[in-house]
Amino acid sequence: MTHSSYQFTRAITRRPASSATNGLRAEDHGTPDISQMLKDHAHYVATLRETGAKIIELPALEDFPDSVFVEDDALCLKDCAVLMRPGAPSRLGEVAMMAPTIHTQFKQVFQIKGPGHIEGGDILTTSREILVGKSARTDAAGVEELRTIVTPLGYKVREVQTPAEILHFKTDCSILDDNTILSTKRLHVSGCFEGYRVLHTSDGEDAAANAIRFNQFVLMPAGFPNTASMLRENGFEVREINNTECAKIDGGMSCLSLRF
Ligand code: GLY
Repeated sequence: MTHSSYQFTRAITRRPASSATNGLRAEDHGTPDISQMLKDHAHYVATLRETGAKIIELPALEDFPDSVFVEDDALCLKDCAVLMRPGAPSRLGEVAMMAPTIHTQFKQVFQIKGPGHIEGGDILTTSREILVGKSARTDAAGVEELRTIVTPLGYKVREVQTPAEILHFKTDCSILDDNTILSTKRLHVSGCFEGYRVLHTSDGEDAAANAIRFNQFVLMPAGFPNTASMLRENGFEVREINNTECAKIDGGMSCLSLRF
């Protein structure tokens, strides 16, 4: 099945909770400033909305510190959605809180039941296939359950590997158009993007790889000027959003929305 991987009419976001100060993180880079995070989130939502898409904004969930990262809760495809089963125990309960909204948007909704685990941040949907990176959060059983659900619908799932040192597959890559991927060099050398045109983040700017193409814009974290210039030279309309606070809890542009 082929479809556009960057043209969307809708997105779901969730307001950051004050409890995001307790969000999961691999390393301590300080406590997120919630008032700055709220400003950045509002800028992100306004930028999505500027493309003409309808943005469904959900309220904060204080019981779930990482719930601003809605992308991990579901995979939204053209004609159906699949509710995920996060590998982080503190995030498992987020899915039930997202499910009612997903049901209002999709006629066909599936659910990963387990025992495997899979998080949306490990899934890169291109125009021709669904790449799923095994990681500390996504295991082979989770990938197989997703494959069983979407293969009869015409989707091709390809299992790849998230580099050991990063949280999610999409921490290090994003879709720029139907044939172009923005990737760190460390991920590209794994060979998982054969057949695609790949643009690299600049040296020292790996964190710029967690970007999103959303209609006419590429939203990327601010502070990575060489990668931003490279994207502009390649004809992309780049919007830079401050991400310093979400970055402290290992979150980026893709984590902050479900796009469909
Ligand atoms: N803090 C984002 C995550 O670990 O899921």
